Amino acid sequence: MSEIHKQFDAAIAGGGIIGCAIAWRLAQAGMRVVVIERGDIGREASHAAGGMLVPLAEADEADDLFHLCVASRALYADFAHELQQVSEISVGYRTEGTLYLSLSDEDDEELERRWQWQHAAGLNVKRLNADCARKLEPQINDKLRWALKFPDDHQVNNRLLVQALRIAAQKAGVEFQTQTEVERLLIEGQAGRKQIVGVQTSRGEIRSQTVVIAAGCWSSLLANESDILLPNLKVEPVHGQMVAVEMPVPPVNHIIYSCRAYVVPRLGGVVIAGSTSDKFGFEKRVTAGGAASIIERAQEILPGFGDLAIRETWSGLRPRAGDGLPVLGADDSVAGLVYATGHYRNGILLTPITAKIISELVLKGESSVQLSPFSPQRFARLQAAGQAP
Ligand code: FAD
Ligand code: GLY
Repeated sequence: MSEIHKQFDAAIAGGGIIGCAIAWRLAQAGMRVVVIERGDIGREASHAAGGMLVPLAEADEADDLFHLCVASRALYADFAHELQQVSEISVGYRTEGTLYLSLSDEDDEELERRWQWQHAAGLNVKRLNADCARKLEPQINDKLRWALKFPDDHQVNNRLLVQALRIAAQKAGVEFQTQTEVERLLIEGQAGRKQIVGVQTSRGEIRSQTVVIAAGCWSSLLANESDILLPNLKVEPVHGQMVAVEMPVPPVNHIIYSCRAYVVPRLGGVVIAGSTSDKFGFEKRVTAGGAASIIERAQEILPGFGDLAIRETWSGLRPRAGDGLPVLGADDSVAGLVYATGHYRNGILLTPITAKIISELVLKGESSVQLSPFSPQRFARLQAAGQAP
């Protein structure tokens, strides 16, 4: 493979959904941008996800992450539309909404708790009795007691979204270097006046005054390789498995959650069920036990699930920082170095707002979103206060 030696305005380390979306926005603003991806574009967590855009279904409280997720959800319809127009790829953005089922006494308590805080906060959540919920989705388990409906919790086909992002970014002038590993960050200057000047890759040096680390669960490995000593910045992989089945008509239309699993209908007669959550290190694998537990829990939602033909099984690695929040912002000690990582369970949902925040930071030096809860420096602050996660 040929060597590359080039000068760019911004180099993005990692070609997942986050890196591609940032690259697109920066190139739209006129920057010369390169995305450097070790494998193929969008084949890691961004390929593995369910594509659910569901802050209400996943949140336990109205914390900083919840507000960021809701803000990103509000950008999604326009984001998907713009992307579709530019790329000419339909990204499967669906607005039927999400149901959350109660199937037992314990579920009643959990749904009641969610209803209480979400309703009190004025969020768009509805209570449905079993008959109403079954009218919407006749295939739901007869054990259904009642359900919540989140009309604004939508979905997108994440795999198509990544393809669309790649095309849109290329049209805007982004260069993609695939099968190319970022081995090290190149930093010049003394403490207090350090500046990023590029990256060393497996195919040569790339020079750039801005580097964005968007390497998913490998982000802190990359930072550590380069002696960027952000204390306690550790992004770890949280393994999740999925099972997709073929579902003949009549299909399911809503995302459906129970307290133990979720099912996601895709256009074209496929339903995805997930997921598991394990610490297996960086190894991806579909285990017999993992797939069996997903099928059993999906069957509790849709009793016919276990009889359907399996289309595909897969696993992926969610990038999780120590406190479970994304890491978004500039490195205080190295000018030009920016982090966009740690999106954990919500990276597809958080893509539009991450691209907006990071492009604002790179282009204007400040973001319209309050970033202190997500600052890369928070780990150092927490460590100094003896509260490191
Ligand atoms: P990735 O997609 O992992 O991309 C990082 C890229 O960086 C990879 O392509 C990798 O090869 C590359 N890379 C790493 N190191 C280097 C290097 N040194 N040099 C070059 N390239 C490098 N989120 C939602 O919002 N909704 C969902 O429904 C949802 N469901 C999920 C279900 C599962 C089972 C899983 C696993 C995740 C789910 N997520 C969901 C989370 C979401 O998938 C992630 O948060 C998101 O994809 C993270 O995107 P990313 O671009 O940061 O990471
Ligand atoms: N957000 C769904 C998952 O991470 O499994």
